[in-house]
Amino acid sequence: MIIEPRMRGFICLTAHPDGCEQNIKNQIEYVKSKGAINGAKKVLVIGASTGFGLASRISSAFGSDAATIGVFFEKPPTAGRTASPGWYNSAAFEKEAHKAGLYAKSINGDAFSNEVKKQTLDLIKADLGQVDLIIYSLASPVRMHPTTGVLHRSVLKPIGGTFTNKTVDFHSGKVSEISIEPSSGDDIENTVAVMGGEDWKMWIDALKAENLLAPGATTVAYSYIGPSLTEAVYRKGTIGRAKDDLEATAFTITDSLSDIDGKAYVSVNKALVTQASSAIPVIPLYISLLYKIMKEEGIHEGCIEQIQRLYADRLFSGKEIPTDEKGRIRVDDWEMRPDVQAKIAKLWQEATTENLAELGDLEGYRSDFHNLFGFGFDGVDYKAEANEMVGVESIA
Ligand code: NAI
Repeated sequence: MIIEPRMRGFICLTAHPDGCEQNIKNQIEYVKSKGAINGAKKVLVIGASTGFGLASRISSAFGSDAATIGVFFEKPPTAGRTASPGWYNSAAFEKEAHKAGLYAKSINGDAFSNEVKKQTLDLIKADLGQVDLIIYSLASPVRMHPTTGVLHRSVLKPIGGTFTNKTVDFHSGKVSEISIEPSSGDDIENTVAVMGGEDWKMWIDALKAENLLAPGATTVAYSYIGPSLTEAVYRKGTIGRAKDDLEATAFTITDSLSDIDGKAYVSVNKALVTQASSAIPVIPLYISLLYKIMKEEGIHEGCIEQIQRLYADRLFSGKEIPTDEKGRIRVDDWEMRPDVQAKIAKLWQEATTENLAELGDLEGYRSDFHNLFGFGFDGVDYKAEANEMVGVESIA
């Protein structure tokens, strides 16, 4: 079939298998171009199919020749209907990994469930024995709690008062004012239940109970802080409470791993266009200004550049891992540079529908958004027939 993008708000209903494959190849090339990383060799990535988790899987496999198991929740294709992009990404990843002689298997299902945890543990037991790095990179709007059976829904709301600020519809470029009502009822508890640290700890506890963590094993989850411009809706909002909980969980996990000398870290990453971040109001406007400034300064990074730097300069540099006063690894350091933030704050005041295309990098935002779904890559003939029925080798 000929596959074209079909946009609906902040999602795209179609994905292009060849474009997703090109995206994977580009990321692999980038990692290889930066040279070998003396990193972990047996790696479990939870949330491995898109965004930061995918970049982690690629960095481990093609930077450190690691065997990888990837867990994700994606939609396979049916005849005439494309898969979700994470499915095609994983298909292409496995194809490339296997070609390179690397072990790579994937599990498609709900990572919050006991069943998927058990399936993953069984696979590690059978194939790898133990893992030495566990990346936790889930971004989900819902979680069915495995013991209570309660379905928790996360919300992106300010706490304590209505938040009013500018936002942009990145498809049309229209800048408008948006008001977001504050959280109420169980909003905070529900958001913490979905995006906080409980499930991360459950994974590590389950792995440890079955002796599947190698001595000195490391686990890393991803967080975000961001500037004062977005803090009412992000870091001081409901999602921020979940990130506080996630960050606190790193210490609990580290304590629980003392006997095997294991460690849990949170890495604070940069704001980037992913399926998760496009859904947050205000953030797309911030990102389009951020991209503009960081590109001008020559310090722009995508997911793969961020994670390659996290691995090479922080986690596996051979030196002590630098952390901030709260014990967090910071690869948002360039985003948070005072000169970068001062420029964004100024542009923020000035941005309107008429001038945003010039003041901000709206084109860069749109192009990254298209790329998420496999569209807009050089070297892909989008007018040609594409085979939507692509399988993931270890699953098909
Ligand atoms: P993403 O939407 O690109 O990736 C989410 C991944 O989680 C996918 O692999 C998806 O299949 C998987 N997933 C979702 N629900 C699942 C479930 N129930 N079972 C199994 N897999 C499931 O998201 P992104 O942006 O890469 O986010 C990953 C982490 O990075 C999140 O913790 C996010 O808060 C954090 N982060 C994101 C930033 C951004 O600007 N995008 C900035 C800093 C941190």
